[in-house]
Amino acid sequence: MLVKKMSIKNFNSIHNLWKEAGLSIPEIQKEKEEAKLILRLNSSSSFEAYNKGKLAGTILGIFNGRRGWIYHLAVHPDFQKKGIGSLLLQKAEEALKKLGAKRILLWVRKDNLGVTNFYQKHGYFSVEDAIVLGKDLI
Ligand SMILES: CC(C)(COP(=O)(O)OP(=O)(O)OC[C@H]1O[C@@H](n2cnc3c(N)ncnc32)[C@H](O)[C@@H]1OP(=O)(O)O)[C@@H](O)C(=O)NCCC(=O)NCCS
Repeated sequence: MLVKKMSIKNFNSIHNLWKEAGLSIPEIQKEKEEAKLILRLNSSSSFEAYNKGKLAGTILGIFNGRRGWIYHLAVHPDFQKKGIGSLLLQKAEEALKKLGAKRILLWVRKDNLGVTNFYQKHGYFSVEDAIVLGKDLI
């Protein structure tokens, strides 16, 4: 298993993997523009994993100066349940800690609640005293 910093050069394969893993994501051009900006700001904490030369998983670790956020943790269905998701999460956690994050937050969609089992095994808990609010600027 090879884990390396994520590069925008591989974005077509990355976007395919996200779709095949079932992430709910916009079409490639829109997502690529966002990914470019994310990687410019978070180059040390976003990773891709390769199994025998084939892209197997990704994670975006984002530090906003206060908290670390995890987005787009995804492992290709052919490679799930082999420890790749756990390895990517560990790499992003280490990198975010190094940047100064003391707590990591992440979203789990209500139609994907089963995955909380995975995160609980890695020490994540539901934040009971908060709800998420949003506002669209565009
Ligand atoms: C969630 C995900 C990244 C886990 O990656 P992975 O490489 O399969 O996980 P690992 O092999 O490191 O860990 C496996 C453990 O987590 C648990 N687990 C993994 N995926 C799970 C899921 N979708 N639901 C419940 N438990 C899960 C397993 O029970 C397993 O524990 P066990 O070994 O004791 O049985 C992967 O299943 C995935 O890409 N899912 C689709 C995309 C997604 O939902 N991403 C998260 C968005 S918030």
